[in-house]
Amino acid sequence: MKYIKYLFFSFFAVVGNSYAQQNLIPQPQQIDIKSGNLYLDRNFSIVGKGSPEEAKFLQKNIKEITGLELPISSKDAKKSIILNLDAQHTAFSNEGYELIVAANQITITANQNRGIFYGIQTLLQLIEENRSSLNIPLLLIQDAPKFAYRGMHLDVSRHFFSTEEVKQYLDYLAAYKINKFHWHLTDDQGWRIEIKSHPKLTEVGAFRKESQTGPYAAMTFDGKPYGGFYTQEQIKDVVAYAQALHIEVIPEIEMPGHAQAVLAAYPELSCTGGPFEVGTTWGVMDDIFCPKDETFALLEDVIDEVITLFPSKYIHIGGDEAPKTRWKSCPHCQELIKKEGLTDELELQSYFITRMEKYINEKGKSIIGWDEILEGGLAPNATVMSWTGIQGGIHAAKTGHDAIMTPTSHLYFDYYQGNPQTEPLAFGGDTRLDKVYSFNPIPSELSAEEAKHILGPQANMWTEYITNFKQVQHMLFPRLMALSEVAWGTSKPDDYKKFESRVIQHLKVLDRKGINYSKAIYEVIGNIKLVDGQLTYTLSTANDPKHIRYTIDGSEPSSASLPYVSPINIDQSQTIKATYFENGKPISATITQSFDISKSTGKNIRLVEQPGEAYSTGGASTLIDGVFGDKQYFGKNWLGFNGKDVNATIDFGKETEFSTVKLSSLDRKGSWIHFPKEVRVSISKDGSQYEFVKGLSQAEIIDSDGDLVVTFPVQNARYIKVEVLNLGIIPDGQAGAGSGAWLFVDEISVN
Ligand code: ACM
Ligand code: ZN
Repeated sequence: MKYIKYLFFSFFAVVGNSYAQQNLIPQPQQIDIKSGNLYLDRNFSIVGKGSPEEAKFLQKNIKEITGLELPISSKDAKKSIILNLDAQHTAFSNEGYELIVAANQITITANQNRGIFYGIQTLLQLIEENRSSLNIPLLLIQDAPKFAYRGMHLDVSRHFFSTEEVKQYLDYLAAYKINKFHWHLTDDQGWRIEIKSHPKLTEVGAFRKESQTGPYAAMTFDGKPYGGFYTQEQIKDVVAYAQALHIEVIPEIEMPGHAQAVLAAYPELSCTGGPFEVGTTWGVMDDIFCPKDETFALLEDVIDEVITLFPSKYIHIGGDEAPKTRWKSCPHCQELIKKEGLTDELELQSYFITRMEKYINEKGKSIIGWDEILEGGLAPNATVMSWTGIQGGIHAAKTGHDAIMTPTSHLYFDYYQGNPQTEPLAFGGDTRLDKVYSFNPIPSELSAEEAKHILGPQANMWTEYITNFKQVQHMLFPRLMALSEVAWGTSKPDDYKKFESRVIQHLKVLDRKGINYSKAIYEVIGNIKLVDGQLTYTLSTANDPKHIRYTIDGSEPSSASLPYVSPINIDQSQTIKATYFENGKPISATITQSFDISKSTGKNIRLVEQPGEAYSTGGASTLIDGVFGDKQYFGKNWLGFNGKDVNATIDFGKETEFSTVKLSSLDRKGSWIHFPKEVRVSISKDGSQYEFVKGLSQAEIIDSDGDLVVTFPVQNARYIKVEVLNLGIIPDGQAGAGSGAWLFVDEISVN
């Protein structure tokens, strides 16, 4: 072994990294590929005394990929794949490994079987890629993850997935070196884990009378009873399966909110006494656990059973989206606030979480909670899962708490990853592959010391709109691949195109295995750029952009339409439609982009308050780029302001006549996005003295569908100021109650 390694190190030092890149995901930290191949044939045996389970895993998977059934042997043979578990090998972290492919021998070295397992996963990708020839390039890989927490979540409450499906999901995670599975087992719409001391939790709580279908606002239902749960035996089976894949399963038991399925079974644990039914609509429910002794007694019984099933050091106890509406008018809750010397319901939430944390800590486990566990003060030992943005994670890290980063802006896999017209119905948003790939789990605000508290990223798969496992696959792939490199620490957003070409190779593997995935990366994507007042529209695709054809008059593109050669200059209002063609046939769906060129397009704009980092792509110029944000895609072409007003000043460069200001805003209460409470337009000749002209009241705004138009007698001025006032604090009874509302605005079109 030593001899081989020595030989390779010296050899690579000369040859370097000059041979064909292999399409590994995640990219290893270091890879050196040399000329020559190992030919994998039936004469190889697998040698792995210290890693018997990993040896079997490798054997099974080589057979699946190649048909070769390699024997597992206890001694080195002339041709072997050696799993070299070597506790002395301390050059890597416990998950690190070294993989050497030499002429007749493959060696994976690590100091723990976790590392051996990741070396195997890398080797399997190499075998898969070279499946037709079975010639594996000679190489040396030295690899280890950047983040110890590499998480993927699955909600089995909104829709239920069988243990066989969950195991397939775990296979996918393991293949991309994800090591934490956050299993969201309870929510308003279904309790999914058998609890022997409280059988009604599943007898009543696991079944609902029907499910919401279609977009949330349509309020349509299927009329079909729905439900299911896992027995404790099934849970143990899944946990053991995950352990073999070196995945830790973290169960989530939601409290104090998202509890309606429990309250349907035990209405006495609510503030009002009910009755309740298991949730049928999605969203946030006002009826949550009342912090009574009986409630804590039941939750403690649940925790007692949960900790026997899950070896993880963590229990996730939710904490998110718990409206305080009921607590405010509940005599018991108000009494408890007084008795405990708490100031308000937010501190009561903190009391709830801290009390449960104490119980869980006494059992030797730690809690994770969504960022709302910061409300009213963070429980002493809690890890924060930062989802509403990255601020919760930053706050946690700065106060000495661990954090996991899972912001909606980049890591919610229930959001769209492509054009809503061609993707299955999803929650909303715009979380394309490149957006996921661009995520950096370490916020720039943190010092090196604080950054150590960022355990890593996690992506979430909420299943309100995901009704079957094929659709889970679709939403997972290929975004899981981007998460994989973000979490492993080898993502390079500036090299996105290289990553994308590796993804395309991996999609072929998914095809071979019959795994569903989104083809959104083949869509034509349009990007609007404003440089020195000139607006351009750039079209791109993972295919060759030369085959894009487009029209500028709103007609459908054909193979005879204009070929796309370079960014299109936009100088007047027009509608561009573009389609990708191969051999004269349209391959992609057609994208449509309308430009509304007004007197403000491309002019100088200044914002007093800046938009939130996650919703600021393009910056202030997004507001004068000739494009109104699409109301379905609130991630794109919109600016989002968290708790802040928009105060925009546009300088026309000279005195200009105008009589209307048109802008749009969004109302998506479930995502904490609210219409503004007022719009105000003022003008100035000198840029310092402003005179109010006209505005819109809250009533006028609520009556609009988000297209806000202010009209007034013709004015003549060089400067215009548009103020759009944020709603402020989200009122009780709504998602995010008590937090600052998001205000989404796009385009300020002046004519
Ligand atoms: C969440 O998405 N409610 C954590
Ligand atoms: Zn109460």
